Amino acid sequence: MPSFSPCELHTERLTLRFIDGGDADALFRLFSDPQALRYWSSGPWLHMAQAADNIEQTLKGYQDGAALRLALVLPDGELIGTATLYAFDRRNHRCEIGYMLARPYWGQRYMQEALAALIGYGFGALELHRIEADIHPDNIASGRILEGLQFRQEGHLRERWFVGGEISDSIIYGLLRRDWIGPIHPAQ
Ligand SMILES: CC(C)(COP(=O)(O)OP(=O)(O)OC[C@H]1O[C@@H](n2cnc3c(N)ncnc32)[C@H](O)[C@@H]1OP(=O)(O)O)[C@@H](O)C(=O)NCCC(=O)NCCS
Repeated sequence: MPSFSPCELHTERLTLRFIDGGDADALFRLFSDPQALRYWSSGPWLHMAQAADNIEQTLKGYQDGAALRLALVLPDGELIGTATLYAFDRRNHRCEIGYMLARPYWGQRYMQEALAALIGYGFGALELHRIEADIHPDNIASGRILEGLQFRQEGHLRERWFVGGEISDSIIYGLLRRDWIGPIHPAQ
């Protein structure tokens, strides 16, 4: 698959940029918070080595075109979250979206702002036709964000994830390019 060209997206309050080796501490803080990982598909990180592995995978994803994972950064440079397009099916012009915001920044609509930019890039530069999301049924804030971005709830899959000894269902959301009313970002 084609690699991703370095890109930087700008919103009113955030920059979305490529992740690099200098982000290990910030990513560790983000992904080691058990409350933030409550509805994630894997448990919280316990060791810094997981941050290094994750960065290695992220860089590989840029190279082999498997995943486009961007850091959400404030004007002062603080990394407060990530947003990712992954599971690309190029032939069918579709992929999935995932996101994580640091807890101190919840409730301020940062993720809505970031995802609108990333989705616009997906439907523009990446020529996607469809973006899917798979969320835990109890993750109300996540569902509300997706619905606010015109995703439609398309299915309820039973007992799909085993995380930390618990099994959970998935609510599947889908967004088609023709339903997207936000900005479209062409290739840079
Ligand atoms: C999911 C996540 C990005 C949401 O961000 P957030 O800043 O907490 O979300 P917000 O507070 O803006 O809430 C989004 C919406 O849900 C509503 N909401 C939040 N919790 C709610 C609840 N318990 N009941 C009803 N509505 C709720 C908010 O009022 C808001 O509505 P609005 O868009 O009409 O204003 C963030 O909580 C997060 O990163 N969580 C951990 C990772 C995760 O779960 N990722 C998603 C899985 S892919």
